[in-house]
Amino acid sequence: MKVGIIGSGGREHAICQSLKNSNKINKIFCFPGNAGTQQIAENVKIDLEKFENLKNFIFENKIELIIVGPEKPLVDGLVDYLEKFQIKVFGPNKFSSQLEGSKIFTKELCKKYKIPTAKFGIFEDSSKAKNFVNNSNFPIVVKADNLASGKGVYICHSKEEAETAIDEIFNGKFGIAKNILIEEFLKGEEMSFFTIHDGVSFKTFETAQDHKRVLEGDKGKNTGGMGAYSPSRLINNELEKKIINKIINPTLKGLSEMGSEYKGFLYTGLMIVDNEPYLIEYNVRMGDPECQTILPRLKTDLIDIFLACCEKELKEINIEWKNAKSLCVVLCSNGYPDEFKKNIQINNLNNIKLNLDNYMFHAGTIKKNEKILAVGGRVLNFVSLSNDFKIAKKNVEENLKKLNWNGGFFRKDIGYKVVE
Ligand code: AMP
Ligand code: GLY
Repeated sequence: MKVGIIGSGGREHAICQSLKNSNKINKIFCFPGNAGTQQIAENVKIDLEKFENLKNFIFENKIELIIVGPEKPLVDGLVDYLEKFQIKVFGPNKFSSQLEGSKIFTKELCKKYKIPTAKFGIFEDSSKAKNFVNNSNFPIVVKADNLASGKGVYICHSKEEAETAIDEIFNGKFGIAKNILIEEFLKGEEMSFFTIHDGVSFKTFETAQDHKRVLEGDKGKNTGGMGAYSPSRLINNELEKKIINKIINPTLKGLSEMGSEYKGFLYTGLMIVDNEPYLIEYNVRMGDPECQTILPRLKTDLIDIFLACCEKELKEINIEWKNAKSLCVVLCSNGYPDEFKKNIQINNLNNIKLNLDNYMFHAGTIKKNEKILAVGGRVLNFVSLSNDFKIAKKNVEENLKKLNWNGGFFRKDIGYKVVE
């Protein structure tokens, strides 16, 4: 069959690679993809804001299934649009995508269904927000409501920092702000918990721990993710049951009572405090780089899972995993997450050792005149599987050394909690 993947990151290259391994697939299109997907799929440049162009391309090329990688097209309603034309799409509809698109939507759902989360307040103007902050303990967390690629969250250690955050958000740094969210700071350890849904049932889709900060020791600015490992060191049966019973099931009940269902990946971002889960945020997609870390562990044919979700038959599928540990390090352009140079050539890509335990997924790369150029902040993802995180990390480092690219940098301490 022919399938299409929306997106251009490491997550989409990992999905593309997994689908390529299926003997049921004879052609993959990536919209727009990167230099990595170009080796195994046809990259298609299309304006993703113009749903109609995409729909026409899907019909002209007889694409039978579309998989949506990133959040923006989901929040914008691409799934609803394509389904109107009877096109099969893996991903949640616009209503359910509010779980990621509006932090306030999610917080209100938490309140109504008693889902454990940080205590919060919603404020419509800056003076009320500042007044609240004046009487708070620190640190405190100030958040923009809308999609902000992980940047609209401020952990504030003083009244001054909180006031700056409030001003920046209300002044439109992350788009028009009708209101602002202020939350209690939760102290614990984070975990990413993944589930896959078909609208009537769901299954767990492994756990991971990502490192969001740019500097070693989890310091510095927030990024899209500098590296990850899977499974999380925190997961255990009791915790999994709590996450499902206290967080995921009530969320699905809430969506259902509002007349919506959930199909696609759900990424539950948690803070674990003394083996108790608190919801920090939902994402309505796989994580990046968590996806690159998790998918190489999957034994079941990914296309069977996606199709079962579209047919509401996920119950019939047994999702099997390799009993291995996986670690991913992201190679970024110098300067990321701030300004960085584009079109820097990457050599030595042929030196990299790749096999069933070692992977390299492209992110911000393009191929031009037979050369591979870095064009994004996050450039390449190096992943290794092993029964030992330490060995996985050593393998990743060997490949990074073979690449020896001076246009970028990577965090040398990814997985320090499980490696040391
Ligand atoms: P979010 O975009 O909501 O996931 O927030 C980005 C990051 O900020 C999270 O991954 C956490 O590291 C941190 N964070 C967000 N909310 C809280 C909170 N209430 N308490 C502690 N840390 C938080
Ligand atoms: N790695 C964090 C995210 O995908 O949002």
